[in-house]
Amino acid sequence: MNPFTLKDYAGPEYFCNRKSETEKIVNAAQNQRNLTLSSIRKMGKTGLIHHVFHQLSEINEMDTVYFDIYHTESLSGFINKLGTSLLAEKESWPEKVKRMTKYFIRHIRPTITFDGLTGLPALSFNIENESSGIRTLEDIFGFLAERSNEKPMIVAIDEFQQIVNYPENNIEALLRVNIQKLQNVSFIFSGSDKQLLASMFTDAKKPFYQSTEWMYLEEIPQDDYSIFIKEKFTSGFILIDDEAVKEILRQTHSHTYYVQFLCNKLYGSDIKEITVETVKQTLSDILEENDVYYSEYRNLLTKQQWNLLLALAREEGISQVTSSSFIHKHNLSNAATIRRGIKSLMDKNMIYKKGIKYYVYDVFFAKWLKRL
Ligand SMILES: Nc1ncnc2c1ncn2[C@@H]1O[C@H](COP(=O)(O)OP(=O)(O)OP(=O)(O)O)[C@@H](O)[C@H]1O
Ligand SMILES: [Mg+2]
Repeated sequence: MNPFTLKDYAGPEYFCNRKSETEKIVNAAQNQRNLTLSSIRKMGKTGLIHHVFHQLSEINEMDTVYFDIYHTESLSGFINKLGTSLLAEKESWPEKVKRMTKYFIRHIRPTITFDGLTGLPALSFNIENESSGIRTLEDIFGFLAERSNEKPMIVAIDEFQQIVNYPENNIEALLRVNIQKLQNVSFIFSGSDKQLLASMFTDAKKPFYQSTEWMYLEEIPQDDYSIFIKEKFTSGFILIDDEAVKEILRQTHSHTYYVQFLCNKLYGSDIKEITVETVKQTLSDILEENDVYYSEYRNLLTKQQWNLLLALAREEGISQVTSSSFIHKHNLSNAATIRRGIKSLMDKNMIYKKGIKYYVYDVFFAKWLKRL
């Protein structure tokens, strides 16, 4: 197996560091504190949650529930995901059904469906209107309360910011009230929209105000990632020199997914001795492979947005985007157009702001743009 995983969490041996973050989350869970986990995309939030759950399952003092609401569009989608994940535990179907009918649903009978592609079972609730949705949610939270009296629980809701897009307008308050009642359940709310999450948890007018501890995930420190990378290549009988490791982290800005991707490619090639040159060559191959895909972006953006994106890629992090030197250097139009462009590129998730500087989100795409 390639030790540089790009898919779901594959176990602690394939997971680099995150020791202090793991300890902090475990401590929050053991003390019934809720926690909000945020970072830019692909930094490792979901992986970290699974890593924490893995550690917790080793000590076996808590049950863990994870669900991702990215593809949900309403309260009923939320309920279906939560219900399904609650039953996705390691017990037989007859037991599940027994438990479900015992506590679970007092108002609405769920149906069990099987995913056409994966064959995995899922629960679906036939929710006809908002009030039946609210009652079902309350039933499920009642079930959580009973379960957690037997054994404490930790529930992670990934892509949590999605709830602000639900058409029902009282969702935040509804969830807050229900969550607040659970003494033995702690929650992790995770998502990449920092601004949105921050506004949900730090705005005094919002229901979730100050109800959680905040954790912002940064890059894995270079020294730790270097040791991990070196160790994995060496275990696979591939030589890699220190400069090459540095080059990998430099080129990818230590952004987790991109580090993993570049290492995965290098590991999967026939090369048995990795140098700075091989790293550069492999990176170049990756950009070429993505050529068609990246070129398509040009059609999705206006000429001004495209030029602005190009300028931001060339700068590799810049704050003064409306300064005349930036405008002249990159032949851009004017400050007002740039401000609009920045907003639009942010909305499209093509750039992000870190501190006071703007960056192109996709590390490889930024490199590709720089070469134009
Ligand atoms: N500490 C780590 N060590 C090794 N690989 C990791 C680590 N953290 C995450 N990864 C890998 O990096 C990739 C991106 O991580 P993950 O999906 O957890 O990021 P994310 O922040 O949840 O992204 P998104 O915002 O897109 O949901 C995944 O392939 C994951 O397996
Ligand atoms: Mg994720």
